[in-house]
Amino acid sequence: MRLVASELLESREILPGQWLQSFHAPTLANGSRAGQFVHVRTGDYSGLVLRRPFSINTADAATGVITIHYRTIGRGTEWFTRLRPGDSIDMLGPLGRPFEVDPRSRHLLLIAGGLGMAGVRYLADEAIRDGRQVTLLFGAASARDVYPTSLLPDEVEYVIATDDGSVGRKGFVTELVPEYEAWADQAFACGPSGMLGALARLATRRRERMGVARLGRKRGAGREAPAGSPAARRKAFLQVSMEQNMGCAVGACLGCVVMATSGTPQRVCREGPVFASDEIDWEAGW
Ligand SMILES: Cc1cc2nc3c(=O)[nH]c(=O)nc-3n(C[C@H](O)[C@H](O)[C@H](O)COP(=O)(O)OP(=O)(O)OC[C@H]3O[C@@H](n4cnc5c(N)ncnc54)[C@H](O)[C@@H]3O)c2cc1C
Ligand code: FES
Repeated sequence: MRLVASELLESREILPGQWLQSFHAPTLANGSRAGQFVHVRTGDYSGLVLRRPFSINTADAATGVITIHYRTIGRGTEWFTRLRPGDSIDMLGPLGRPFEVDPRSRHLLLIAGGLGMAGVRYLADEAIRDGRQVTLLFGAASARDVYPTSLLPDEVEYVIATDDGSVGRKGFVTELVPEYEAWADQAFACGPSGMLGALARLATRRRERMGVARLGRKRGAGREAPAGSPAARRKAFLQVSMEQNMGCAVGACLGCVVMATSGTPQRVCREGPVFASDEIDWEAGW
């Protein structure tokens, strides 16, 4: 984890109220992995004390450029839209634990709800670089919120669902998953917590539906990996990237806790934001 002065290179509104910003930040671009995030400080004159967390949307080690993709929702994100190329902001990162892809997985299913795209976008690049096939299921309210195909690698199979049916399949993105679960070796999701909970329930019942042995047995000769370890995430069919309101983002304030099935509270900023879906107690109502 480093504190990095990052220079804004480009800022553009890619969808109504959604911005994509590129920053020159070589140490972050080199040292980060998909699923990690940065904690970004607004300027001294903004009057805001807390940093704001954003997923690393893409990172290019060759150019030293990272991008973040965010929706304007309050004072902090409004402030970021007013930055101009050449402005410098400070970022703490990379933070949190990344997605873990099993080396044997060839087919990756990525599932994004709305701004959850920013949580899985980097994984698409990593997977394609490593020669894997990627299908990305994306859900939005309507056509005006659909992430542009032009911002995705050509190799990605992109399948869209909208609530109103204005583009793609009508319905929730979760309804597309059963069509792909037999194809997928592993799945990775980011989006609203209701969507993640629904996917976690689907993943649990997948074993019964498909009559397959626990993936963990196949991927480790029956040995249980310690809960929360990279090996446990790697063995899981579904990994989820969680978003909780954050204070410190370094594990000190306990402002971002969710409950694990083990009964142990988990800090999203330290033990997450990526978890194996079966590690989270989705009924706990944190
Ligand atoms: C690990 C992590 C990664 C994230 N990545 C992204 C990303 O890539 N793109 C993106 O647009 N957002 C992302 N978020 C959410 C983002 O941090 C918040 O939207 C942002 O901090 C809001 O700042 P603000 O000052 O504009 O809004 P505030 O004035 O702080 O809040 C405005 C409203 O947004 C709500 N809010 C604040 N923080 C969050 C949060 N973490 N989750 C849900 N609602 C929140 C508040 O409750 C309030 O209702 C991420 C959050 C986490 C924890
Ligand atoms: S935000 Fe402080 S412990 Fe996670």
